[in-house]
Amino acid sequence: MPGVFISFEGIDGAGKSTHIEALAQALRGQGRSVTLTREPGGTPLAEKLRTLVLNEPMDAMTEALLVFAARRDHLQQLIEPALARGDVVLCDRFTDATYAYQGGGRGFDEQVLHVLEGWVQALPDSPTLRQPDLTVWFDLDPAIAAQRLAGARVPDKFEAQPVDFFRRVAAGYAQRRTQDPQRFARIDAAQSREAVWQDVLVAVRQRGWLA
Ligand code: TMP
Repeated sequence: MPGVFISFEGIDGAGKSTHIEALAQALRGQGRSVTLTREPGGTPLAEKLRTLVLNEPMDAMTEALLVFAARRDHLQQLIEPALARGDVVLCDRFTDATYAYQGGGRGFDEQVLHVLEGWVQALPDSPTLRQPDLTVWFDLDPAIAAQRLAGARVPDKFEAQPVDFFRRVAAGYAQRRTQDPQRFARIDAAQSREAVWQDVLVAVRQRGWLA
């Protein structure tokens, strides 16, 4: 079976984590090999970069360069080998998060992100870039996400941002979706957990990756 690459996106507090875990179990239950991973992170080097990005103050360009450096290592060491083996790769965030957070949230130049994306996600002997086959986008009003996050845990650098930052991040995701609508499954993350889960299942079943 060919590999499948699924990413999960949304603002902090949108509630994607439990569904990623549940989807991994559902796929494994049907005999698929699943690689569960996240960005920034997923390899020893990329996890070190994650700690820096999430905790150290830095300008938006430095942030963008570090997340793409982490992504390069992640693609080479983990994602590409897993796809070559025929795994389903479930990745908690990918490049849409860079457009949403560094581009939308922090106002960094999208043309530069586009160049970095072209370098980092280039495939050998192919004009196309490595992109997720499906992106499940948990769309949630930033005001509701802020309520959910309040007091949940010690916030990292991004979680501590004001609601206006997350409005720009959400707008960044919406814009990415308009550029590649086939790839995105938008899920109304304000619904009950069960309704959100059903929508996740529908998105994956529609593509024939789950019975
Ligand atoms: P997480 O808490 O969902 O694991 O995500 C880590 C944080 O990093 C989250 O606030 C989003 C942010 N982030 C970026 O700013 N740029 C990126 O490219 C990625 C992948 C995540």
